[in-house]
Amino acid sequence: MARPVVMLFLLLILAFSPAFSGCTTAPAHQSAPGSAGTDPVPHAAMSLPASDRGIQYTGISTGQITDEDLIRYSIEAQDYSYSPYSHLKVGAALLTTDGKVYTGTNVENAAYGPSNCAERTAVFKAVSEGNRNFSAIAITSSAGGFAYPCGPCRQVLYEFGPDIRVIVFNGTLKRMTTVRELLPDAFGPADL
Ligand code: THU
Repeated sequence: MARPVVMLFLLLILAFSPAFSGCTTAPAHQSAPGSAGTDPVPHAAMSLPASDRGIQYTGISTGQITDEDLIRYSIEAQDYSYSPYSHLKVGAALLTTDGKVYTGTNVENAAYGPSNCAERTAVFKAVSEGNRNFSAIAITSSAGGFAYPCGPCRQVLYEFGPDIRVIVFNGTLKRMTTVRELLPDAFGPADL
């Protein structure tokens, strides 16, 4: 009489054990694909310099950067444009006051709204790597005209410096202005 009870008890234990029920629990640090879980990047890698993490680090420091260099970098950045909707490739090259160049391009999205302009891509790349002081930005586009920054990009640039020089190039001619000239009477950090 006692043996069948013991057997039933053991069977119940096996049935509810995760290893036998086919229900395996993911380790705490993993999350389902596409879900916003915890950071999957091993923490050891985070302490390595960006260049060692396989991330393309465009904070190139090459000494004296001319406006022509910046224009060239902005044209090269167009190669990475993700613009399947507008088919307009925009490139930007942002110069920090200590001589680094951060490139950026436009990154579009099927939902349109979340698209990001080339200028803001460059600014956000630089700021997210610890750079907030800028002296110039060059912008070019595949349309060939003068690619002046849009309103939101002017506002973002203003945040980090009204005196940032803005260089636009239409394939033949270069024009130069400043963020202050492009966004007069702007609202900025001093107005809070
Ligand atoms: N675009 C920029 O990258 N910068 C601007 O200042 C204006 C517009 C991009 C956004 C979009 O991908 C495409 O150009 C067409 O608007």
